[in-house]
Amino acid sequence: MAKAAEAIVGWGTGSTSYDAFLEQEGIPVIGGLWVENVLEVPLAPWKRKGGKGAYINLDGSGINTSYIAIDCYLLEIPPGGSLNAERYMYEEILFVLKGRGATDIWSAKTKKQTFEWQEGSLFTIPLNSRHQLFNGAGAQPALLLGCSFAPTMINLMHSEEYIFRNDFIFTDRYAGQDDYFRGDGKIIGKRLLETNFVADVRAFDKLGDDPTRGLGRNIQFEMGCNSMAVHISEFPVGTYKKAHRHEPGAHVLILGGQGYSLEWPEGEKPAKIDWEVGSLFVPPERWFHQHFNTGSTPARYMAFKPRSRKFRTKGKFMNDVSLKHGGNQIEFEDEGPEIRSRYERECAGNGVEVRMPKR
Ligand SMILES: [Fe+2]
Repeated sequence: MAKAAEAIVGWGTGSTSYDAFLEQEGIPVIGGLWVENVLEVPLAPWKRKGGKGAYINLDGSGINTSYIAIDCYLLEIPPGGSLNAERYMYEEILFVLKGRGATDIWSAKTKKQTFEWQEGSLFTIPLNSRHQLFNGAGAQPALLLGCSFAPTMINLMHSEEYIFRNDFIFTDRYAGQDDYFRGDGKIIGKRLLETNFVADVRAFDKLGDDPTRGLGRNIQFEMGCNSMAVHISEFPVGTYKKAHRHEPGAHVLILGGQGYSLEWPEGEKPAKIDWEVGSLFVPPERWFHQHFNTGSTPARYMAFKPRSRKFRTKGKFMNDVSLKHGGNQIEFEDEGPEIRSRYERECAGNGVEVRMPKR
């Protein structure tokens, strides 16, 4: 018997159903522009999950500004322990920050299968599959960072029964294939890899050159037939990327290198984010943002975003088209002179040679 949606009700109260859900979760919710290091965020016991956690719903997530938004959270599994078995009607992609362990996946139509993960692994939980996560180490906690479509789904459906106790099985997404989490992947487009598991995104090497936004290489992972996706991007020593802007929700996690990013709404002074491995930031909706490598190694980041290129929620993207042509990218020759001069100063301070094209 379906229960009324009384447990998650936000409409009519001035807040959203997702806000009411967050309150019910009972763990800290961090806001703001960025988190210096996700490894240092205080966590609290998380009754629903069975471990500890915290939400990191930054200003740029889109949760308060957009109909389509993803949230972000840290999830800790105690040493030698496991989380509660669960299923839910929102997509989820998880990245392993620390530790190692395993995930069981099953449904009424598919037998249980287990895959193992380690620090640096990235995987998706196939939509609404039953799953349980285990810590494979007896002495250390495992820490994962997750992004999910919970805000969008909970606000649209506003029914706890629908989200958490739904019997529908998406066999079109996952039908119990033995090799589903093997991580081989299949190239399905230019710098586009369909895969449900990546063993270590920090060392993943099949990135392709992409000069659209300055020197660098990237690849996008299309996981679990999701409408959300992840890409990794790497750019060389002594270089920075072109500024651009877009919809909210691109959660940028620094995987390697040292540098800073600038973020600004049109016509305003930029905010400067000095990052290191473990920094997380989400450029707010339509804010320009620009990434700068000031270290002695290539800089690598990963971006979780509510935008698959295979299963699109929007037909047309103008993110890498110049502002001059109606797009959302500032070409190097059009940027303010202070962008380059600040970068040169920062690199000089680190003894790094600037390798940008002459203006
Ligand atoms: Fe971006």
